[in-house]
Amino acid sequence: MELRGIQQAGVEILANHYKPEVIICKTPSEVDAYVANRLAQQIQTRPDSVLTLPTGNTPTGMYEHLVTLVKSGQLDLSRVTIFNLDEYHPIDPSHKGSYAAYMRRHLIDQVPTSAWYIPNGQAEDPQGEAARFKALLDAHQPVDLAILGIGPGDTCHIGFNEKGSSIDTTVRYMPLDPQTKATNSQLFEDPSEIPEGTLTQGIADILQAKEIIVIAKGSSKAWGVNRALKGPVGAEAPASFLRLHPHVTFVLDEEAAGYLQ
Ligand code: PGA
Repeated sequence: MELRGIQQAGVEILANHYKPEVIICKTPSEVDAYVANRLAQQIQTRPDSVLTLPTGNTPTGMYEHLVTLVKSGQLDLSRVTIFNLDEYHPIDPSHKGSYAAYMRRHLIDQVPTSAWYIPNGQAEDPQGEAARFKALLDAHQPVDLAILGIGPGDTCHIGFNEKGSSIDTTVRYMPLDPQTKATNSQLFEDPSEIPEGTLTQGIADILQAKEIIVIAKGSSKAWGVNRALKGPVGAEAPASFLRLHPHVTFVLDEEAAGYLQ
């Protein structure tokens, strides 16, 4: 057997050893509440937790729950450190479509947190900015809990790690994938304003977290969830690398779980 074949066999053995937990909720709002409560438990157990957090359509309900828990005095995020998964480039952080603005709207401007780091979408040197963000992240690793979404259709991306992203990728500049661009441009008031590039944590950065939760809601995620959990582990489906991590939970609504047997 060629070395590549042996390596792939080893990857599959490891993936079979670490079976991700799969939680299927009846509705999207049950997913939001479940993940918010898991996050709250993490912070109650360790008030100075370091977190990696996502943006996009999927986690907005989770943030609503989290903010309600804080405002009602049941949770305190004031000692928590937050890293974002990714950001567009180039983008002004005050642009409504930026992930920086998203985070401020949904969490950072709502409740006190200790520290919040997101790649600077305005950096003139994106490679240099990737190195700066990676150094900051490395100084805080291992992240206690990383919460991720998964790409729609057959992208199977995590962060902006699109097809072809290998297991050893770290924070870097990535041109925006055409399929992701078409989907994500709908989140911009003027779709033509979506930037051409991104800065994203890599697969290796994500896998360093002690625990990972993947959230997926809706039928557009069903193919990717099934591919990530059941297909071969490899760069053609970046989310499949999560099966090499010992502590991963996929939290799905019934539609996102629709292709799982
Ligand atoms: P979404 O994005 O939550 O907007 O679907 C998730 C992703 O593309 O990773």
